[in-house]
Amino acid sequence: MRKILVTSALPYANGPIHMGHLVEYIQTDIWVRFQKAVGNECLYFCADDTHGTPIMLRARKEGVSPEELIARAHPEHKASFDSFGIECDNFYTTHSDENAEFSTTIFNRLKEAGDIRTDEIEQAYCRRCGMFLPDRYIIGTCPKCKSADQYGDSCDSCAATYHATDLIDSRCATCGAKPATKKSVHYFFKLSNYADFLKKFIADGYTQKTIANKLDEWLVAGLKDRDISRDGPYFGFKIPGEDNKYFYVWLDAPIGYMASCKNYCDANGLDFDKVWGSEEYELYHFIGKDIVNFHALLWPAMLKGSGFRLPNKLFVHGFLTVNGVKMSKSKGTFIKADTYAKHLEPEYLRYYYASKLNSSVEDIDLNLADFEAKINSDLIGKLANLASRCVPMLVNKLESKLGCLDEQGAELIEKLAEAKEKIVADFEGLNFASAIRTIASLADEANRYVENNQPWATIKTDTEKTRATLTAALNAMRILTIYLKPVLPNFAAKVERILSIAPLSFADVGSVIENHKINEYVRLAERVDSKKVEAMLEESKNEQAAEGPVENAEPVAAEAGLDEPLTAECTIDDFVKVDLRVAQIASAAAVDGADKLLAIELDLGPVTKNVFAGIAKAYKPEELVGRKVICVANLKPRKMRFGVSEGMILAAGPGGSDIFILSPDDGAQPGQRVH
Ligand code: MSP
Ligand code: ZN
Repeated sequence: MRKILVTSALPYANGPIHMGHLVEYIQTDIWVRFQKAVGNECLYFCADDTHGTPIMLRARKEGVSPEELIARAHPEHKASFDSFGIECDNFYTTHSDENAEFSTTIFNRLKEAGDIRTDEIEQAYCRRCGMFLPDRYIIGTCPKCKSADQYGDSCDSCAATYHATDLIDSRCATCGAKPATKKSVHYFFKLSNYADFLKKFIADGYTQKTIANKLDEWLVAGLKDRDISRDGPYFGFKIPGEDNKYFYVWLDAPIGYMASCKNYCDANGLDFDKVWGSEEYELYHFIGKDIVNFHALLWPAMLKGSGFRLPNKLFVHGFLTVNGVKMSKSKGTFIKADTYAKHLEPEYLRYYYASKLNSSVEDIDLNLADFEAKINSDLIGKLANLASRCVPMLVNKLESKLGCLDEQGAELIEKLAEAKEKIVADFEGLNFASAIRTIASLADEANRYVENNQPWATIKTDTEKTRATLTAALNAMRILTIYLKPVLPNFAAKVERILSIAPLSFADVGSVIENHKINEYVRLAERVDSKKVEAMLEESKNEQAAEGPVENAEPVAAEAGLDEPLTAECTIDDFVKVDLRVAQIASAAAVDGADKLLAIELDLGPVTKNVFAGIAKAYKPEELVGRKVICVANLKPRKMRFGVSEGMILAAGPGGSDIFILSPDDGAQPGQRVH
């Protein structure tokens, strides 16, 4: 028996689990279930990745502490995992005592080994926000193609990559201020000290060949030292001996694998040093291709330098596209795990992904028409069909009792059993698509057997011949179920219940069930209804329209939504929720430090509301006082850097100085409703 530790990359706590994540978590979970089903000890660890700037800013935006934000995300992520049958032995968090301790230990050991240096560097800094700005928090016009509103590291429009300083008219994505630069001392990990070690480690087969080739290019180009610290405000672990410096999230995130394992060991009476620390256990990491750099270079070097065990292998998968394109919010193809599960059966996705996954790093496509066709033809037409043709007949006409295999039946079962070795090798080697192809063709074989033997005809003349046919068919069902169990655990559990047998594992392929009483038939699977697929896409589209972009960058109010294609439909019910009122501007003033904003007091008759409006480039404050405007009076108050904004003034135009507030005619009175 092998002993195996497995991890999946830790999902960030500032967003929901989506279909892209599920490629990885389903791939890992199938592999883990497979290992367990062939009799190996296998422990699967994951956790929420809770630190970093996006999480801090997301929390700020929502007016909660980062601790509250991550505490809320954890059960949500756990529930998404549960609904897709992703069964971690421990789903922990990186914001834990265990992780703080390991991170400090590793950092100190690297420091002692001479692998850490400090250096003063200059970075973009937002004076208004009082923080250094990572590239993703600087936006501006792309220097190559001149598209507006691009991030500081790359352009979504033309895919150019550049330095944030190259952006035209760059601004802080949070507050819109022009970034300054500021110097500060950072800690660096001297990755180059590990170049020789890494070369050998990778050449020895740490990861797939295509990835190894890419890594080789990086190694030949030379390894740069890695900046592993961040200045406060930051959400993370403080660096020992520092007041306002924290470990960069990518230092403590992979250490989160160890922390999750440690937490599990402590809770289950195991000795962590013997589990994580011993050669007895193999260790495998599953990740997506976007985070290879951290897992193939930084992480092994950190482990090596601090004297911890190394992983055996890194399994890298490609990215998910939906209907051939990157998951897109505006097309409704950014599908959350929970939205899928609301409309469609989670195990169908497991089957579909399995039917597409192999050991390569190629992207995989969720083509929804193909998804529907594949589930209906394979799962319903081949597998469920085998049971639905045979079980009711045995139950209703033959006292629910299996007989013995006849010669022809034994041949069929032998053929199915013979495939075990190949299927096991395919699961082991992450060639799930190949395993699924084999299983589907074996199911064809079993269905052909049933057709050739015509039990629905022989039942009228020869009950024992019919019993032998059904015995073979249901033994075939049993073997197919063993093969599919890592992919379809619930489907397998239903078959086990119908056949009235103990939980199946791969060892059971070698035996048959004869002279055995089975249970009542229950339906194993329902066809995919294309209306449900549509409903899922529709709901995804609406969610995204309601939530806006997931990025933490919050555009200035008046700029929000401009040039956005009109996507989601707004029903009359949606519309009546918006309380539009006539308001009179009681006062207007510039906002210190925000050159686009005006602080406006709106007189709404019985109440007054304070609003920050991004119209300073178009109107002087004194021009506005006394003017009547239309405002959204029931907008949920939003905490902005300068105070709370309690409403929104309606305006139109592309932005900047070309923005026009909408004014009602004179007769309208403050507080009156807009119909
Ligand atoms: N928090 C880091 C990982 C830290 S591991 C020490 C992170 N989080 S993530 O939420 O962005 O992604 C988690 C995993 O899901 C990554 O392996 C990532 O590659 C994978 N995927 C995220 N989006 C994906 C697709 N669209 N398609 C396939 N995998 C995707 O990265
Ligand atoms: Zn700012």
